[in-house]
Amino acid sequence: MTAATKAKSAKKIKATLTEADLAVNGGRKTIKAFGSKPEPKIGVEEAMALVSLWGYSDGTLAKVRALLDKESVGSPHLARYYCPKPSRVAELEAYSRDLFGVKYALGVNSGTSALTSAYVACGIGPGDEVIIPGYTFFATAAAVIAAKALPVIAEIDDSLTLDPKDVEKKITPRTKAIVPVHMVGCACDMAGIMKIARKHNLLVVEDNAQSCGGKFKGKFLGSIGDMGCFSLSTFKITGAGEAGLVLTNDEYLYIRAQNQHDTAACWRPQRYARERQPGELFAGQNYRMSELEGAVNLLQMQKTKAQAERFNKNMQRVHRQIGTFKNTILRRSNDLAGDVGYRLVMFGKDAESATKLAKALSAEGVPTYGRGDSNARDWHIYPYWEHIMEQKSATDKGCPFTCPLRNAPLPKYTADMCPNTLDYINRAVFVSVDQWWKAADCDHVAAAINKVCSVLG
Ligand SMILES: Cc1ncc(COP(=O)(O)O)c(C=O)c1O
Repeated sequence: MTAATKAKSAKKIKATLTEADLAVNGGRKTIKAFGSKPEPKIGVEEAMALVSLWGYSDGTLAKVRALLDKESVGSPHLARYYCPKPSRVAELEAYSRDLFGVKYALGVNSGTSALTSAYVACGIGPGDEVIIPGYTFFATAAAVIAAKALPVIAEIDDSLTLDPKDVEKKITPRTKAIVPVHMVGCACDMAGIMKIARKHNLLVVEDNAQSCGGKFKGKFLGSIGDMGCFSLSTFKITGAGEAGLVLTNDEYLYIRAQNQHDTAACWRPQRYARERQPGELFAGQNYRMSELEGAVNLLQMQKTKAQAERFNKNMQRVHRQIGTFKNTILRRSNDLAGDVGYRLVMFGKDAESATKLAKALSAEGVPTYGRGDSNARDWHIYPYWEHIMEQKSATDKGCPFTCPLRNAPLPKYTADMCPNTLDYINRAVFVSVDQWWKAADCDHVAAAINKVCSVLG
């Protein structure tokens, strides 16, 4: 259309129409319906993309597609908020509250974001210190940095979990929280840790990424401290993709964790309202769990209790048959009945004997691994957390290591600062217990361990 014709037709419209012609005033509606046929935004192709993740054969996929094509179901809503009820994430939270016996549960998108939400909810921030064990996945420490505080690294003991005695030694006026990490299915000494925390008025955030379904003295891990954090990633015993969970009995901490996990405030009864109490609203992040993760992790969580019972039964059947040896000892458990039990851990006399033991057990058919080369890089062991050890920061300002609010020298970050931790890890031999073993399988594993240890000591 040329400029001249454009001006002509605009003049014509102006000349013929009046206010009464507007549909809003009762005039004729311009568009009665659109002639286009919309396709669902998220439809059969997306459903097939999901099903294909399970690795079914082409034949099965073709059958599923044929079934799906027959039915028109519209477009699903895969986000947790404003989705048609019931939200699978909300169902996962409700199930987790009941299972773990806590008042509040919050689904998030990873274990790391669960920890960050919990730390921020606890008010941990610039100038603060958080005590964590030297044996845990690096994420426990990374989340402290994300909260702009500094991790203080403490020893583990012969249970392979945080040593309460060392925790007490590492408390300073800047300490805000202790993070017991329940490693490889095994509970920390929660009685000892809670006692120290209450004595020094510190918060306790349990990192239960590795021990979902485990217990300490009858209470579920993750429900004992002020907050409990879980990873529901596919690599964990409960988990099917990338997700996490935060538990607490404290409404204020829950509200603050909600804000950190969803700064768009979809979780609020009135999203854009001003804060109902100081500390409720601050600039958080988006760690929301999607309905996809909610759906699969609800099922995973429903399997947790029975799964932990099967693992523990098999681990204990092997455990009680193992003899006494001069140089090889079983890991001390803070609560054998509460251990999830997917690993049975022994300590060799030294790193070399542990490597020999692991090799000999594997040769007997027992699924076993040890550290092997004691210089092998592993982000579960503090000397390899260069991010912390060398104070790496996302910017050249060095935050939070250079935080002026600290007013004290940096915590100790040296490779030899936790000698007991290195010793236990280098001497540890891990037997992978299977929840599906039959009694006879357990007996064969125990026999193989006794055979190898009676020869190697
Ligand atoms: C002890 C521990 N804490 C935290 C995390 C972090 O969980 P995610 O990978 O879901 O962020 C992990 C995961 O490996 C872990 O083992």
